[in-house]
Amino acid sequence: MSPGSLAFRLSRSVLSTISPPIPQARKWATMYVPKAGRPLLDMSQGVPGVPPPKILLDALSKASLSPDACGYCPPTGEPSLRHAMAQEMKTVYGQAADITSDDIAITSGCNMAFIATVMCLADAGDEIILPVPWYFNHQMSLNLLGIKAVPLLTCTEEGFTPSPHTCASLISSKTRAIALVTPNNPTGAIYSPALIASFADLAKQHNLALIVDETYRDFINPGPPHSLFSPLPPKPYHGAHLTKSWRETFVHLFSFSKSYCIPGHRLGLIAASPTLLRHITTTLDCLQICPPRPPQLAFASPSLLPSLRPSILANATALVERHRLFRELLPEKWIIGAQGGYFAFVKHPFMGVSAYDVCARLATEVGVLTLPMQFFCDEDMEVGGEGGEVKGDWERWIRFSVANVDDEKVRRVCERLKECEETKRRNLKSFTRDSPDTLFPRVNWLIELGQPFAQKGH
Ligand SMILES: Cc1ncc(COP(=O)(O)O)c(C=O)c1O
Repeated sequence: MSPGSLAFRLSRSVLSTISPPIPQARKWATMYVPKAGRPLLDMSQGVPGVPPPKILLDALSKASLSPDACGYCPPTGEPSLRHAMAQEMKTVYGQAADITSDDIAITSGCNMAFIATVMCLADAGDEIILPVPWYFNHQMSLNLLGIKAVPLLTCTEEGFTPSPHTCASLISSKTRAIALVTPNNPTGAIYSPALIASFADLAKQHNLALIVDETYRDFINPGPPHSLFSPLPPKPYHGAHLTKSWRETFVHLFSFSKSYCIPGHRLGLIAASPTLLRHITTTLDCLQICPPRPPQLAFASPSLLPSLRPSILANATALVERHRLFRELLPEKWIIGAQGGYFAFVKHPFMGVSAYDVCARLATEVGVLTLPMQFFCDEDMEVGGEGGEVKGDWERWIRFSVANVDDEKVRRVCERLKECEETKRRNLKSFTRDSPDTLFPRVNWLIELGQPFAQKGH
């Protein structure tokens, strides 16, 4: 047997699931040789660029020292944190929001919240509709469970927001849920409250669940992200989403990773009907037994959550400003298709070259790490058609995580992108040399720069 070979077979589901994209991108980063004053600039992973506030670090440290934090708690989390989060959600969705601690389960991160939920909603062979480009972990999780991710294509013309009308045409007898992410990963598109309400109506009409992953909800300025949690109106109302409780249709997912800058502490949340949560308790019991206790106890400390709001707001405001800076400094031929939350989705200017190849070369030669469209969709996906993009254009989008870096690094990234264009003007050879390994084919940076471009987007 050769080293690394296995005497047993692997599951078809894991073999048919893509490898985690972030480590693939990190491989490119290791191939970059930083020169003096030119460090790698990492705009790949969606991670907070700032540490948690000191009051949170202190609370985490105190909770970790407590012997109380060493044991298990219920599968759906600390009752005290569920109660505190029900109150905190009213700060975000409005004081009248109809949310109680019975509607809440705490999970080991939002990815686990998604898996625990879909395991209760769909069986192998069933379908869940995901807007595309999709958050790769959603598609990977569904694939591992044998659930088909049905792609709902979005397009530049609509700012990468999904159409309820197109979604309706994808619903079949196997459909069990529609899963949205807003603000979106990877595009940054922010879905309006009206659009989210239309999807809730659609889901209700077809007796489907509407899952909304709101990991980046605190980075919308200003106002509540949607009104689905609003209490029923006193008078009859014709919108289906308001004639019945949100609990019949809606499943809200949240991550503590971004708002509180603690991705390593692994906390997430599900808000759903207590009827659904009874079943989610079963999946959570198997997946996590219980979420990590020290961060739960820390967040449940009296008045900690409200006292963290100002830092969330400050981070959100800084991020909005960084998005503005990125928009201003991005060279003209790099086109922004959508922007919001942690991400900007940008079309590169090299016609006929896939974003995968451009990202590989940006990382290895220019020292700018980003993620290509190919990580957020099936490679053989049919695109185009009415109102859609042609395949060549579709393949040119790149995700820049604006949250990872500070303003200075945004400036430097934009300068380096500009250098690629100047290389064209001066016809330097550096960008036309062979790539340093065989990961990607030789790409000529200069292919398209002479072509006319539309003006930079919004
Ligand atoms: C849309 C979305 N959902 C979930 C997650 C994962 O969140 P967590 O760290 O809470 O598992 C991410 C992280 O990037 C994300 O972008």
